[in-house]
Amino acid sequence: MSSPGRLWLFCLYLQALCAPAICEEWTADVVPEIRALTGSCVVIPCTFTYPGIQRADSQLRGMWFKDKYKHELTRLKHENKFIYYEDQSMIEESFRGRTKLVGSLGKKNCSLEIDDVKDHDTDKYCYRTEIPEHDKYSYNHACVTVNTYKDAPKPRVTHQGDPIEGSPHIVMCTIDHTCPSNIPTLTWGDRTEKPVIEHKDIGQGKWEIMSILTFIPEKKDDHTDLTCTVEYHGKTPVKNSVRLYVKSKENILYIVIPVVAAVGTAVIFGGLCLVMMKKYKKRISELQSRGDNGIWSRLSRMTRRNRPAGHRDELSPSDSRAFWSRFSRRPQGTPSNLGVGYRANNETANISKPRCPSPDRNIKSSYPSKCGSNAGNYADDNVYGNM
Ligand SMILES: *[C@@H]1O[C@H](CO)[C@@H](O)[C@H](O)[C@H]1NC(C)=O
Repeated sequence: MSSPGRLWLFCLYLQALCAPAICEEWTADVVPEIRALTGSCVVIPCTFTYPGIQRADSQLRGMWFKDKYKHELTRLKHENKFIYYEDQSMIEESFRGRTKLVGSLGKKNCSLEIDDVKDHDTDKYCYRTEIPEHDKYSYNHACVTVNTYKDAPKPRVTHQGDPIEGSPHIVMCTIDHTCPSNIPTLTWGDRTEKPVIEHKDIGQGKWEIMSILTFIPEKKDDHTDLTCTVEYHGKTPVKNSVRLYVKSKENILYIVIPVVAAVGTAVIFGGLCLVMMKKYKKRISELQSRGDNGIWSRLSRMTRRNRPAGHRDELSPSDSRAFWSRFSRRPQGTPSNLGVGYRANNETANISKPRCPSPDRNIKSSYPSKCGSNAGNYADDNVYGNM
């Protein structure tokens, strides 16, 4: 291998070595603000980096101090004013025994837990790393503001829809908290069912606990309150409830019956329309059959001789048959369609017109090709007409 090639490889090797460790800066990532319930605990998420090689826990020292003392660290050391220090005696009296690093410094985790949060803990805190006999750094730009509050928030109790007697119902009770080392407990009064507990980190130092209760509602549960009680570490319990309006099965019938009734009415109405339409057809066929008895041809001859002024030309019997067979081939229309079709060929609907013969007259044979296919329809008409 040529020497430039070797140099290139060496550079790559150096870079690979450098990227994760040697070339890192002093940085810290701390959640900027966190609310802490007094009496409970708070864990302030914190990660940090430092230049140079990766070091073990024992080679690193982490400490937390109040932001307002950031320019007087030597004084802090003399006056024991840290809020966290490895050596407890260096910690300000009011914080002594209440603070600890829950993260592992070797893993660059500087998370701080403050236990039994007090009113006066409301302040701004910063982290500092020291690598003994080597280097030290205060991350003055990555500090956390802790705001304390006294009143434990009520849990949120939710469920979807009203419970139905006899079918499983799910109710959820949810709270957020900041104390994963001493998590609040959620209970459901005297319910004997065992709830499912979900606990998850929702970021920014907050955790969410959800207690999911599934039970079978009974009649006796109607108009009762289902209560979820939350007990934060070191606080008096706080409750919240939902009122249960249990729908009994009969109640459901009250909903189902009107729906069925409405659908039924629609079906009956539709059926009536169908019957009316068939009746129209039957009437038409009746009118036709009268024409086949010779009335139409006589009438036609009469009107041709003696046509009233303004009256339309009458159709010839063959025209009429052609119309009727076209008409019958149409899909079953509504009565209004029939009306239109009828009027278009015959303005004065009341005048009797001959049409194809009805099958119950024995003239079927005289129109075998054109009207035979309608015989079945007519038979149906009679069936429905008698309804
Ligand atoms: C730091 O440590 C805390 C406590 O063990 C843990 O909850 C958190 O997830 C850690 N953070 C990271 C970034 O690993």
